[in-house]
Amino acid sequence: MCGIVGYIGTKPAREIIINGLKRLEYRGYDSAGMALINGEAKIFKCKGRVQDLEDMLSGSEFNGTIGMGHTRWATHGEPNELNAHPQVSFKGNFIVVHNGIIENYSLIKKHLQSRGIQFSSQTDTEVLANLIEHLYLEGDLTAEQAIMLALNRVEGAYGLVIICVKEPDRLFAAKKGSPLVIGVGDGENFIASDATPIVEYTQRVIYLKDDDMAIIKKDELILKSVRPGKIEPEVKQVDLKIGEIDKEGFPHFMLKEIYEQPRAIHDTFRGRVLPDHSGIMLGGLHGVLETISQSERIIIVACGTSWHAGLLGEYIFEEYTRIPVEVEYASEFRYRDPIIRKGDIVIAISQSGETADTLAAVKLAKERGAMVLGICNVVGSSIPRETNAGVYTHAGPEIGVASTKAFTTQVTVLAMMAFEIGFLKGVINAENYKKLIDELAVIPEKIEKSLKANEKALEIATKYQQTKNALYLGRGYLFPVALEGALKLKEISYVHAEGYPAAEMKHGPIALIDENMPVVVVATKDDTYDKIVSNIQEIKARKGLVIAIVTEGDEIISRMADFVLEVPDTLPVFSPVLAVIPLQLLSYHIAVLRGCNVDQPRNLAKSVTVE
Ligand code: G6P
Repeated sequence: MCGIVGYIGTKPAREIIINGLKRLEYRGYDSAGMALINGEAKIFKCKGRVQDLEDMLSGSEFNGTIGMGHTRWATHGEPNELNAHPQVSFKGNFIVVHNGIIENYSLIKKHLQSRGIQFSSQTDTEVLANLIEHLYLEGDLTAEQAIMLALNRVEGAYGLVIICVKEPDRLFAAKKGSPLVIGVGDGENFIASDATPIVEYTQRVIYLKDDDMAIIKKDELILKSVRPGKIEPEVKQVDLKIGEIDKEGFPHFMLKEIYEQPRAIHDTFRGRVLPDHSGIMLGGLHGVLETISQSERIIIVACGTSWHAGLLGEYIFEEYTRIPVEVEYASEFRYRDPIIRKGDIVIAISQSGETADTLAAVKLAKERGAMVLGICNVVGSSIPRETNAGVYTHAGPEIGVASTKAFTTQVTVLAMMAFEIGFLKGVINAENYKKLIDELAVIPEKIEKSLKANEKALEIATKYQQTKNALYLGRGYLFPVALEGALKLKEISYVHAEGYPAAEMKHGPIALIDENMPVVVVATKDDTYDKIVSNIQEIKARKGLVIAIVTEGDEIISRMADFVLEVPDTLPVFSPVLAVIPLQLLSYHIAVLRGCNVDQPRNLAKSVTVE
């Protein structure tokens, strides 16, 4: 969602903030703004992207050594200059940037309006700015006292950075629900929604916790709690290199991240697979493995692409551990009073580790006594900090809004977990265990080969770029891949696409099939191969256009389909991570050919930190 960057030190803040906002632009990009302090405070904001803000700033010489910036993803109020952040309080004393939603804003707004306070935007953030100012003036408080008091009156989620123009030697920051990270420098400090804008300057960070409030000066950091209680700051080292957040010659982050998958998957299992392939050891599950293997039920919660990985988790866990699994959309799970029994294990899957609904589902499951595990990519993010144990995917930063390497590494982690537990339970024997691990070890190489489908994917994309609809079909392990392929196309090229279990086609989607309907069939070799061949015949009999993902050397489907994209042969459990590659490439090329903004598709955000 929205991205925040703040700086206080001795260097010109403007450049640092613009660079930081560019790194955070994947989070929100419908408007952008900045506040700079230099004797006086100046606000610059505009509708559009960070580049528009930079162009606007080029008309001004104004700079300062303290400031903050924001990229917005609209919740309250349409994207325009008035609603862009920073928001300024009615007397101009408080300047606020905010990520999150103030849920009781309309009640507070009415109260403030009844006291004669005027509003100039439709945002919940301005309500907060005005509440702070109102308390500040009415109670004759310090800025810190007014902010604390206001935060005790608002409900909802926030990551906030606030400047009080009367105390221009400090930034105030506060967190509840939406992430904020402080970068600790020498004679300078930073604050941002995640570590990506900070690592260029310092690797020392403090992750703010819910209800933390920070007073950030250039050479002093004070951490307080909005609720009573003392806080010990915990400085951590971030292991993030600046190269990892650059495009490295690729035209888009998404393409770079697709091509990174061999390395990403290798990093996911590196150090976790024993050198002789005789076993898997997931350090993050140390001490809880026995409990997991004795559990009676596993519930997987996630959103978006991570939910698709979760669905694969159900298939993989049930096959290799024989533990029943349910997969839930986090947003449904948390609001429907779910039954959680003693002995249930809840696994939350999230690339960002910040998705608000997944985080809330984790908290609910914990409250109800479940052991909660996380499969996350961003180290130190909120979900891993809430869970009892977990496994990081180690995919490296994923910047493209459409998830690619996060998906394949999540599936890799789920497979490793299932194999380790299955072996412990005796569901998998030593010989099979070794066979599975041997295959896991060659998956990066096989993904390299799957990437060779790129040219063909471009050719197919060129032919079908104007299509308005597409159907994706798969069976068994390949059904969640069909869902993921359809989601990729929708997300970045705005083409309506649906994923279906291939056999369900006869119960509805078959009515849509005609000579204009591309049907992408994920049909690599497995136990249901013959069945999917029949499904393809049914599509062809209705003149549908078939694009099939097949195992290298497949002659049967190659003769029937209009186009085939080949991936190497593998065990069925690994077929999703290979078969999804050509689908990622296909949607990438279609989006580029349609002139869409691949890395920042309209209306979508990388990390959905509002409910
Ligand atoms: C957003 C992103 C998706 C992502 C989903 C879940 O919708 O655009 O790419 O799959 O959130 O995010 P998470 O970080 O929890 O995996």
